[in-house]
Amino acid sequence: MLTRLEVMNNNLSGPIPDLSGLSSVQVLILHNNLFSSIPVDFFLGLTSLVSFSLDYNPLTAWSIPQSLQNATGLKDFSATQVNISGTIPDFFSSETFPSLQSLHLAFNQLEGELPWSFNGSTITSLWLNGNQLNGTVSVLQGMTYLTEVWLHSNKLTGPIPDVSGLLGMQNFSLRDNQLTGIVPDSLVKLPSLYIVNLTNNLLQGPTPLFNSGVNVDIANGTNSFCLDVPGFPCDPRVDVLLAVAESVGYPSGFAANWKGNDPCNQWQWITCTNGNITIVNFQRLGLSGTISANFSMLKSLNKLILSGNNLTGTIPNELTTLPSLTLLDVSNNNLYGKVPAFRQNVVINTAGNTDIGKDEPSSTPAGSPAGNTPGTSSGSSGGGNDAKKSKTGTVVGSVIGAFCGLGLVGLVVCLYTRKGKRSSKVQSPHTVVIHPRHSGDHDAVKVTVAGSSVNGRGGFGTVYKGELHDGTKIAVKRMESGVISEKGLAEFKSEIAVLTKVRHRHLVGLLGYCLDGNERLLVYEYMPQGTLSRHVFNWREEGLKPLEWTRRLTIALDVARGVEYLHGLAHQSFIHRDLKPSNILLGDDMRAKVADFGLVRLAPDGKHSIETRLAGTFGYLAPEYAVTGRVTTKVDLFSFGVILMELITGRKALDETQPEDSLHLVTWFRRMHFSKDTFRKAIDPTIELDEETCASVSTVAELAGHCCAREPYQRPDMGHVVNVLSSLAEMWKPAEPDSDDIYGIDLDMTLPQALKKWQAFEGNSNVDDSSSSFLGSGDNTQTSIPTRPSGFAESFTSSDGR
Ligand SMILES: *[C@@H]1O[C@H](CO)[C@@H](O)[C@H](O)[C@H]1NC(C)=O
Ligand SMILES: *[C@@H]1O[C@H](CO)[C@@H](O)[C@H](O)[C@H]1NC(C)=O
Ligand SMILES: *[C@@H]1O[C@H](CO)[C@@H](O)[C@H](O)[C@H]1NC(C)=O
Ligand SMILES: *[C@@H]1O[C@H](CO)[C@@H](O)[C@H](O)[C@H]1NC(C)=O
Ligand SMILES: *[C@@H]1O[C@H](CO)[C@@H](O)[C@H](O)[C@H]1NC(C)=O
Ligand SMILES: *[C@@H]1O[C@H](CO)[C@@H](O)[C@H](O)[C@H]1NC(C)=O
Ligand SMILES: *[C@@H]1O[C@H](CO)[C@@H](O)[C@H](O)[C@H]1NC(C)=O
Ligand SMILES: *[C@@H]1O[C@H](CO)[C@@H](O)[C@H](O)[C@H]1NC(C)=O
Ligand SMILES: *[C@@H]1O[C@H](CO)[C@@H](O)[C@H](O)[C@H]1NC(C)=O
Ligand SMILES: *[C@@H]1O[C@H](CO)[C@@H](O)[C@H](O)[C@H]1NC(C)=O
Ligand SMILES: *[C@@H]1O[C@H](CO)[C@@H](O)[C@H](O)[C@H]1NC(C)=O
Repeated sequence: MLTRLEVMNNNLSGPIPDLSGLSSVQVLILHNNLFSSIPVDFFLGLTSLVSFSLDYNPLTAWSIPQSLQNATGLKDFSATQVNISGTIPDFFSSETFPSLQSLHLAFNQLEGELPWSFNGSTITSLWLNGNQLNGTVSVLQGMTYLTEVWLHSNKLTGPIPDVSGLLGMQNFSLRDNQLTGIVPDSLVKLPSLYIVNLTNNLLQGPTPLFNSGVNVDIANGTNSFCLDVPGFPCDPRVDVLLAVAESVGYPSGFAANWKGNDPCNQWQWITCTNGNITIVNFQRLGLSGTISANFSMLKSLNKLILSGNNLTGTIPNELTTLPSLTLLDVSNNNLYGKVPAFRQNVVINTAGNTDIGKDEPSSTPAGSPAGNTPGTSSGSSGGGNDAKKSKTGTVVGSVIGAFCGLGLVGLVVCLYTRKGKRSSKVQSPHTVVIHPRHSGDHDAVKVTVAGSSVNGRGGFGTVYKGELHDGTKIAVKRMESGVISEKGLAEFKSEIAVLTKVRHRHLVGLLGYCLDGNERLLVYEYMPQGTLSRHVFNWREEGLKPLEWTRRLTIALDVARGVEYLHGLAHQSFIHRDLKPSNILLGDDMRAKVADFGLVRLAPDGKHSIETRLAGTFGYLAPEYAVTGRVTTKVDLFSFGVILMELITGRKALDETQPEDSLHLVTWFRRMHFSKDTFRKAIDPTIELDEETCASVSTVAELAGHCCAREPYQRPDMGHVVNVLSSLAEMWKPAEPDSDDIYGIDLDMTLPQALKKWQAFEGNSNVDDSSSSFLGSGDNTQTSIPTRPSGFAESFTSSDGR
């Protein structure tokens, strides 16, 4: 009648005896002994067993016997490191063991796949780590009672399934396997997550961004994520290829060979022309699954070769929309169905598909192909229940540095706020934690951001002046919560993406950001001399000296170089859209940097323009932009021309103090520039006009006129502007020594040279360089951009010295 036998933590040795007579025994604890073997049918007769522990005994190899099934009241079965071989028996189901809670079989020699009988089981704690298990982890989707799953250090493959039903999940360890595919949102959103271990797999897509309270082990570079920065979207081309890979179960071959964020950068089986994917050749890769309709999103595709695989299903109709397709080879698969109507000049090869043309496959192709997408909708009970997720921790942010490509110190910022009160203002001072991106210094640096918040006009954001431990000054812009909608969040992210991409000595650098819940911070380099408008328009009130002409010239050249870089950035073109003196910031050396990329848009290739909701500032808006909303790089040229006019005249683009007919600078300037005499009167009286200066001013005036030409095509491009201005600036004085060429971009280099150098830097780093990455939808037409109060750039400098 023995019910309990506990002999653990001794040095008992020899074979475990036959205990089959103990039909009442419920608790059997044998762990930490020196037992050498276990009887083959040890569980025969032990029908009352509830709790069994055998861990850490040096047994000869054995396997879990069928007779265990008779112990239907089993709750805990623990046999870690006891030399179990064979497969996991297919009976740990809710039918056989309706009370089973914990199954610990770690560090054994188990092989084969996770049994489907786990589906629906009541197990809460499953430890199978340190075995030789293979196959997929799809069954986890239906194990909704799980709170802890350790599957690390196996040979598991395929994607992580939808785990939205696993609402109690706390500790999720899948590291050291060969898992592929995109980390599902359902995992990221699990409300009770505490530990997530995903290091050393072949996971793809964006690096997931978990809530800050979750302990995440996802060491950079040990997966196949497109980017190391958590939460950043992949290049749209990557998204499409991953969608394609999904329909064939995310094969490991793809995951292992598709690294980084640029499919045109030596991705196997993909061929590109000028950054456009033109050939996809998946011939004889052993693929099983279906042909993805997502191929149709690769608009530049010429040839699609899928022959010699085990593909099932039909040829998707969507493929007929591919405008440049010339060849579709699907020969030697198991496809069925009608071949859709392609354009006449498309060569289609469907040979070797016995059921092609038939309405149904005649012989059901052996089971559902192994790697195929798990039935995603099934078993996900209560997927919508995660709304009640609670934010318990006090750490609110986790942030990402930006500048790895150039070896510049990028920063990671976390903002600690008081618990709760997410929407209320954080009282200053509050603490910002900055993690240096590089160097062996792993410790976060806490920085107090001093109180006096400099209010950004319009309440869009508050800008704080901060200081790092080493004295480096920073400007921290904190968005008011609630200002940005959920949709705006995506936009905010893509703006950060632009900012992190864009690096130039004449563009204000983003040092880091924080993005968590409602918290949005941007960290910029600090520009001590403030805005150009201070120095041109407000110098009297600010107690400054008026700028000499040579300074103005140098500043104009700096701005032109910054914008030229934006316009020509690595095959892509970015448009600033809001160039004006209040967005031009000066350092102590009076060299200028262009700031506020909040409105930067990706320019389309070629002459096409994109239409956007009007944003920008009156007085600087190109006419075609103001009227039609069409944006090309030429709108920046117009604004730049206005700035030149301001530099020449010292008058604002729109000067309300002037009579009606002189209010608009461009119009007035054109009139004044008409004759030499009137023009002289228009020049800023603080500029000392000797002969040389006069000549230089006229040349710039002429340039300004061209820049402000009514028709976009009549305006020069920035390269021309740079040429004109640099020849003038050089005549005046030798350029100041390049003291801080930390970007590796030399002023004397041509743009293509600079780009090359920059790309070389990026190529050597582990951050991918694909300029079109991050840019969200890739289709920026018609996006509505909230027109935004101006003055952010001003606001983060104007308090300087107070
Ligand atoms: C078991 O034996 C080892 C030496 O073989 C000894 O170090 C250890 O203390 C023993 N443990 C117990 C519980 O007796
Ligand atoms: C245990 O189950 C087996 C079937 O797996 C059955 O044949 C056997 O009689 C059962 N033994 C006891 C003691 O219930
Ligand atoms: C497991 O069992 C095999 C065969 O009985 C034996 O050779 C091996 O040493 C055992 N392994 C361990 C770790 O005890
Ligand atoms: C898993 O491993 C076993 C051998 O241990 C092998 O027979 C089987 O094909 C493998 N399954 C998969 C899906 O790799
Ligand atoms: C998760 O891990 C933590 C730390 O190891 C532990 O305290 C907690 O009990 C675990 N949760 C579960 C459900 O096992
Ligand atoms: C997570 O992984 C790291 C390193 O791979 C390891 O040190 C840590 O113990 C793991 N945690 C769990 C719960 O597996
Ligand atoms: C590495 O991982 C950390 C944390 O997951 C992340 O903040 C960082 O941006 C990643 N990238 C690099 C290059 O360190
Ligand atoms: C793939 O196709 C599906 C269905 O048309 C669509 O919902 C999804 O957005 C596509 N994915 C990508 C990355 O294009
Ligand atoms: C690449 O694709 C874009 C957009 O589809 C197109 O405008 C461009 O001409 C293409 N480039 C080449 C070389 O085909
Ligand atoms: C295709 O599947 C069949 C069985 O369905 C298998 O015999 C064959 O090896 C598979 N071919 C490839 C290329 O995987
Ligand atoms: C897993 O269980 C769910 C419901 O419990 C069921 O809908 C689903 O079909 C099962 N999956 C498999 C592969 O048996």
